[in-house]
Amino acid sequence: MLLPSLEILGFAALLSTNVLGLDLPSYVGLKTSQHNGILKVTLHSPTSNVNAWNEDMHVGMKDIVRRLQEDNETKVVIFNSDVPRFFCNHFDSAVFAIENFTEDYAMLMMNITNLPQVTIGAVEGRARNAGHELLMALDMRFAVKRDVLIGESETGFGNLPVAGTCQQLPRLIGRGLAMEYILSSQDITAEEAERIGWINKAFDSPKKMYAYIDRLTSRLSKFPRSGLVASKKAINLRASPSREDFLHDINLFKALVNPDFSKIFARFATLTNNFTIGEVELNTGRDLMLAYD
Ligand SMILES: *[C@@H]1O[C@H](CO)[C@@H](O)[C@H](O)[C@H]1NC(C)=O
Ligand SMILES: *[C@@H]1O[C@H](CO)[C@@H](O)[C@H](O)[C@H]1NC(C)=O
Ligand SMILES: *[C@@H]1O[C@H](CO)[C@@H](O)[C@H](O)[C@H]1NC(C)=O
Ligand SMILES: *[C@@H]1O[C@H](CO)[C@@H](O)[C@H](O)[C@H]1NC(C)=O
Repeated sequence: MLLPSLEILGFAALLSTNVLGLDLPSYVGLKTSQHNGILKVTLHSPTSNVNAWNEDMHVGMKDIVRRLQEDNETKVVIFNSDVPRFFCNHFDSAVFAIENFTEDYAMLMMNITNLPQVTIGAVEGRARNAGHELLMALDMRFAVKRDVLIGESETGFGNLPVAGTCQQLPRLIGRGLAMEYILSSQDITAEEAERIGWINKAFDSPKKMYAYIDRLTSRLSKFPRSGLVASKKAINLRASPSREDFLHDINLFKALVNPDFSKIFARFATLTNNFTIGEVELNTGRDLMLAYD
């Protein structure tokens, strides 16, 4: 059957539309690049060699998320890191001095979870605590096999993982495994994380990971935005934490920043030379027990 010529023209116009990117400023702590409706956000702390989540990163991320909430062109957002061996290991300790930081962080992670774009984490290095919580807010997670560790250390500090982790992780890997990993504060490798569904897929090299992500995202970026937005929203309706979950967990977290927590935290600051790269930051799951020696 012949299609009416106007429809053919309309279809051709749809396929050849130039995608306008977001007009983004430059950020401290984040790098951005865009191509064909795909935005890449690279976590890049200029001050922390474990890529700690600091105020600059937080403020920059809020700005990007606010723009994405209103944006009708961007279809996919990829989050990665360019700090060697670390995707992002935890908060920068200075954030605790910022008024209402923890609530704001929880609401930012909720906003990321509900973005109208498809969100993807591309992990090289360690993704723990804040770094892992960002991964939980994303739609899909990919990682390289070599030198990747994923986890949450919070329970070992007398606290709890926040920002959706306690809701999302049991959905991904089941309640028993989520209990084991969250309560024991053990790390998991990318290969094992792939096997149990914590991440979507693990790759032999960054090149293979990005080739896979490129194939996936160029496919997604051809689909009408309406379908992507609708499917994501429908999945999230039953499979993402509520605002009450985000606020409940962060209030518990704040209440548990108590003398016990502070004691372990201070011990860790010493063990890690104020949270800088070394054995303990690299192998927190294993070396957490040193805080109890
Ligand atoms: C995006 O689409 C919504 C709904 O159609 C509209 O209200 C909004 O103005 C659009 N935003 C931009 C930046 O074009
Ligand atoms: C440790 O690092 C934090 C945050 O990066 C900084 O504010 C603080 O001054 C540092 N403390 C010491 C003792 O160097
Ligand atoms: C912090 O939160 C309290 C209670 O919700 C509010 O009264 C206060 O204005 C907030 N401060 C800032 C800097 O947002
Ligand atoms: C989350 O999104 C809402 C709606 O756009 C906005 O009002 C709020 O400021 C955002 N919160 C953070 C922490 O970015």
